[in-house]
Amino acid sequence: MTATTTVSKRKLKQPPLTIHTLGDKVLRQPAKRVTQINDELRQLVRQMLQTMYSADGIGLAAPQVGVNKRLIVIDTEYDNPKSAPLVLINPEIRKRSATEIVIQEGCLSIPDVFIDVKRSESITVAFKDERGRPRQLEAKGLLARVILHEMDHLEGVLFVDHVENELLLHNELKQHGFDSRDVQPVIR
Ligand code: NI
Repeated sequence: MTATTTVSKRKLKQPPLTIHTLGDKVLRQPAKRVTQINDELRQLVRQMLQTMYSADGIGLAAPQVGVNKRLIVIDTEYDNPKSAPLVLINPEIRKRSATEIVIQEGCLSIPDVFIDVKRSESITVAFKDERGRPRQLEAKGLLARVILHEMDHLEGVLFVDHVENELLLHNELKQHGFDSRDVQPVIR
């Protein structure tokens, strides 16, 4: 079996890709299914990983770097050089727990803003890896949270859209130079 994608986890002064931020329209477009898993896509995966590690992130979705594809990279062990990152292509949630928990989230597209968000505690997700192999994963806690956050990006949804405390959100965004008019609240 071919090894998973490996890139150095060190930070680059000039990461290969630019991360778009709140207010940028590319973040709001639903992404398209990946139809070809080839070297070009794997090169994009490597560049997304380098960009994510350089920004101290634990997840990055292709729309955040202006690529309209259903592709996500995740590494909750960014400080462990030996753990392999997770690459999810065309991910689909198969199961989600009715139990929801609150975890504080942040996003590379909304730097320095951290706010509590409530989501399912555990999920089962089906996807293809970067070699085109179908995979299924049960995740809970932080990993489930990152997967759900990144999958939202594929629908053009951002974590701030889930925040129920409007005043807190407005103040937090304003404090970091963002405009709360760019939030598109999710109806629960
Ligand atoms: Ni994000």
